[in-house]
Amino acid sequence: RITLGGPRRASRAVRCCASILAVNPTPQTANEEHRIAVIPGDGIGPEVTAEAMKVLAAVSRRWGLSLSAVEFPWSADHYLETGETLPEGALEDLRENFSAIYIGAFGDPRVPDMKHAADVLLGIRFGLDLYINFRHIKLYSESLSPLTGKGVAVVDFVVFRENTEGAYVGVGGIFKKDTVDEVALQEEVHTRKGVERILRAAFAYASERGLGKVCMADKSNVMRFGHDLWQRAFADVASEYPHIEASHLFVDALAMQLVRKPEQFEVIVTNNMFGDIVTDLGAALQGGLGMAASANLHPGRTSMFEPVHGSAPKYAGQGTANPMAAVLTLALLLENLELREAAQAVEDAVCRALQEGVTTADLGGGSTTSEVGDFLAEVTGTT
Ligand code: NAD
Ligand code: IPM
Ligand code: MN
Repeated sequence: RITLGGPRRASRAVRCCASILAVNPTPQTANEEHRIAVIPGDGIGPEVTAEAMKVLAAVSRRWGLSLSAVEFPWSADHYLETGETLPEGALEDLRENFSAIYIGAFGDPRVPDMKHAADVLLGIRFGLDLYINFRHIKLYSESLSPLTGKGVAVVDFVVFRENTEGAYVGVGGIFKKDTVDEVALQEEVHTRKGVERILRAAFAYASERGLGKVCMADKSNVMRFGHDLWQRAFADVASEYPHIEASHLFVDALAMQLVRKPEQFEVIVTNNMFGDIVTDLGAALQGGLGMAASANLHPGRTSMFEPVHGSAPKYAGQGTANPMAAVLTLALLLENLELREAAQAVEDAVCRALQEGVTTADLGGGSTTSEVGDFLAEVTGTT
C-alpha cells in the first residue's frame, strides 16, 4: 500500500492506494444519515451512475450506513421536454438538504450550446462556490500505462484546478454576428481572492500529506495581466510554505513534461481551462477517461462529484462504457464524508477488477458496464 506522502516503492503490477482526499473539516460520524443528490445526466452518464449506485448500496449494507440517493432528472431529455435546466431553489435545496452531489455526465448533440450543462454543472460549481476541482491522476495497473516503462509508482499526482473563474465565467459577447465584421470577445477573470484560495488549497494539501512539491502552471509569458496575478499570488502563498518546493512551468511545457516524466509531479495547481485540459491528458496516463475521477469541493460545504469524462454519446446505450471512473468518483465522495474505510474498499475493488481482468473494452476486457459494476459492488460489499 502506498500513501501519497510515503516513499515511492518499486512498481507493482497493481497498486492500491490509501486515502484520497478529505477536506471536510467537520467530520461526520458513520451513524449520521447522508442524503446524496444524484444527477445521472446524459449519454453514458445514467449507465455509469447506475453502477456507482450499486456500489453505494453495497457500502450502505456492509457498514450499516444510512446513505440515500435522491435522483434528479436534470438532463438534455428533461430540458428538451420541459425547458427546465436547474430549477429555482435547487441550489439552496442541494446546499441545505444534501451531504453531497453526484453527477454522471452532461452533453447531448441535440443541445449544441450546452445550455442545460452550463446551467446545471457550471451552475452548481459556481452557485455552491466549489472552488477546488480536485483530480487525482493515478495509474492503478501497469497494464494500463500508455508510456513504455512508466509503471504505477510513476503516475501518481494530484491536480488542483481553479473551478470558479478563469475562462469559464461567461464574460464576453458577439458583435455584428454572422457578418464579415463579426467580433467575438471571451474574457478570462482572475481575482486575487480566487487565485489565492486555490493556491492555498494546493499547498495545504501538500503540507498535510507530507508532500514536498507544488508546481504551478500558467501562460504568464503571454497572458501578462491575468497570469501575472497568478505569478505574484503564487510567490506569496509559496513563501508561507518554505518546506515545500514551489516550481513553475508554462502550461505548454507542463503538457510535455507530463508525458516525458510524470514522476516529477506531486501537486499541480492551475487555472480553470488549463486544469480541464491537463486532466484529460492525465486521464490518458491513467489508462483513459474511463479511469479518471474528480471532486468539486468547497471545504466544509456540500460538494459535488463527477467523473472527468463526458457523456461519450457514441457509446451511450450500448453497455460498453467503463464505470470505473464513476465508481472511483463515488470513492472520492465517501472520502469527503469521512467514510474512509468504505472509500478504500471501493478503490480496492477497482484494483481487484483490474487484477482479475473484469474490465470493459476500453481497457481490453470483454465485460459489459453492468458486469463490471456488479463485480465492484460484490467485492466492495464483501471483502
Ligand atoms: P467524452 O469524455 O464524453 O468522450 C471522449 C472519448 O473518451 C469517448 O469517445 C470514449 O472513447 C472515451 N470515454 C469517455 N468516457 C468513457 C468511459 N466511461 N468508458 C469508455 N470510454 C470512455 O468527451 P467528448 O466526446 O469530447 O464529449 C462528449 C460530450 O460530453 C460533449 O457534449 C462534452 O461537452 C461533454 N463533456 C461533459 C463532461 C461532464 O459532464 N463533466 C466532461 C467532458 C465532456
Ligand atoms: C470537465 C468538463 C467540463 C469542463 C465541461 C463539460 C463544461 O470538460 O468537467 O472536465 O470544461 O469543466
Ligand atoms: Mn474536461
